[in-house]
Amino acid sequence: MVSDVIVSKGQNITNQPGFIMAALSAKPLESKIAPSLLACDLSDMAGEAARVTGPVWKSSLLSMASRLRFSGSLAEFTQVMDAGADALHIDVMDGHFVPNLSWGPPVIKKLRQRSDAFFDVHLMVSDPLAYVGPMADAGADGFTFHVEAATDPCDVVDAVRAASRPMVVGVALRPDTPVEALDALWRDGAFLPDLVLVMTVPPGFGGQAFMADQMPKVEALRRRFPTMDIQVDGGLNLATVEVAARAGANCIVAGSAVFKSDRPAEVISALRDGVETLALHKPARKRGGMVSSWRPRAESFEHPP
Ligand code: DX5
Ligand code: ZN
Repeated sequence: MVSDVIVSKGQNITNQPGFIMAALSAKPLESKIAPSLLACDLSDMAGEAARVTGPVWKSSLLSMASRLRFSGSLAEFTQVMDAGADALHIDVMDGHFVPNLSWGPPVIKKLRQRSDAFFDVHLMVSDPLAYVGPMADAGADGFTFHVEAATDPCDVVDAVRAASRPMVVGVALRPDTPVEALDALWRDGAFLPDLVLVMTVPPGFGGQAFMADQMPKVEALRRRFPTMDIQVDGGLNLATVEVAARAGANCIVAGSAVFKSDRPAEVISALRDGVETLALHKPARKRGGMVSSWRPRAESFEHPP
């Protein structure tokens, strides 16, 4: 069982004054939407990265309008413009930890030259420790490794904290791994990682079906870590985000749902609305003169296959 001490982001709040300090300094949870590049047009990764992240207004308005098949009012247009993703999810697979190969540090390093986005790197590799230096050098912003792959997961966290580039540390759980595996990541009463990724498909491939049976893990983690980023990855779309957000996930990775859509900015915006409404319990947002609400927006989209 994960320790009952409610702690996150390396803070020890086992005593009362510490708890109060942590509560005061804790940043409120935010929605974070990260399209997975695995589903993009791989012949144009940099172009695809730009298509889903950053200030949309940097693109030519004409090109964006045509991409989004925009035909609505100025208010709707504004709404689309502020719908950029928060991060790019970059899946690194070594053909050993998972039966698939993707790309490694050299590709990420080249992409870094073409994108200012937050690079949320998900390492599906057998030896995560060996990747810490190369990923820092390549320009990763987030380093999420699988607890199943690490001999000593604390060693991996320590190496990331000591790396030449500051990186958010995430730890991922395969669907067959219980949350108790995270018990190895406590030290002196503090939970070491910044983020937990609950896989909602067996890692290795995009386009798989969302596993709702992973939600008890998300719920258990949210109860113990009220302010920590909890990410879900695999099979997320406009329907399944509802289940994940209700369970408490605030970080959504979505590959096929975003990149296979001809309206990616609207999908990102709708995923965000799902998290903000159902996980963060915020009222429906008013943006660009339009009140956005979760259900009507979700129902207005066709789900990708
Ligand atoms: C799967 C990867 C995912 C994948 C998600 O092993 O970790 O990030 O790209 O793709 P979709 O959203 O298509 O399931
Ligand atoms: Zn992933």
